[in-house]
Amino acid sequence: MITGKYPNLRLRRNRKESWTRRLVQENTLSPNDFILPIFLIDGSNKKESISTMPGVFRYTINRISQIVDKAIKKGIPMVALFPKTKNTLKNNLGTESLNENNLVCRAIVEIKKRYKNQIGIMCDVALDPYTSHGHDGLIKSNQIINDETIEVLINQSLLQAEMGCDVIAPSDMMDGRIGKIRKALDNSNFKNTQILSYAAKYASSFYGPFRDAVGSKSSLKGDKKTYQMDFRNSDEAIREVALDIKEGADMVMVKPGMPYLDIIKSIKEKFRIPVLAYQVSGEYSLLEAAINKKLIQRNAVYESLVSFKRAGANAIVSYYADRIDKILE
Ligand code: PBG
Repeated sequence: MITGKYPNLRLRRNRKESWTRRLVQENTLSPNDFILPIFLIDGSNKKESISTMPGVFRYTINRISQIVDKAIKKGIPMVALFPKTKNTLKNNLGTESLNENNLVCRAIVEIKKRYKNQIGIMCDVALDPYTSHGHDGLIKSNQIINDETIEVLINQSLLQAEMGCDVIAPSDMMDGRIGKIRKALDNSNFKNTQILSYAAKYASSFYGPFRDAVGSKSSLKGDKKTYQMDFRNSDEAIREVALDIKEGADMVMVKPGMPYLDIIKSIKEKFRIPVLAYQVSGEYSLLEAAINKKLIQRNAVYESLVSFKRAGANAIVSYYADRIDKILE
């Protein structure tokens, strides 16, 4: 591989000026690389700040065009919708997930009505925004029950597809759900609805600010370690992805992002499929806190986003997506 040695070979020569650095650049970022998460709240005319995530807001449906407009103008290909469900609508079974007038459904309808196919919509499939216990699945005798949960997830997926959701994104980590959801979508004439599987999703401490943003933090009983992956493992991520591809996933997600660049890289190398990375809320808040305290420069954001591309990610879910033009400047 190495074709010479010092003093004939000086790697610094290619770095001597900006133009040559640009010439040999291996990875770049563009707005096409981003997915913008949007938090939804009930009510009207509200844009609410989130104390744990400075710079990120929750929007009421009638204000959602403000942020979607921005995403389209900046060339972001897709938004991801996350509801903050009122506590009074939460219960043990997460039945609000199947209400066709829930926040996510209303938001899908509103965005599709206004913007048609100018931008893609992705929706999480999982019960945690709707359950009083904050878990992604149903609970019986203190266990998250896999197969019964899938039955609800199928209905949640069908409902979202019916409303106009383009990309169904199961983030619940139940076994076998991708195949069952794919089959149900196909049987209901949603053959073109894509599935983005959160295939390698780790039980992580980096989700804290998100749980705060969607209001599941205080309600969550225990942890999610019986369904989300152990962060000590990487072979297991390969197995998860292999299964989900067989079951019909169009794309897979690795989550969290920066602490899991090795996972992104090995999945990309092994399967050569679209791999997405989720720069999660804890990563965002950590960067923002350090920047605001002037411990690091704002350019650290760009650097951290490029690392996903270097690892092999096709796109990045990031809370910075709405400000991507400033970051790329
Ligand atoms: C729900 C879900 C979570 C995130 C996205 N979808 C939280 C969790 O699994 O507890 C986290 C995203 C983030 O931290 O930014 N299943």
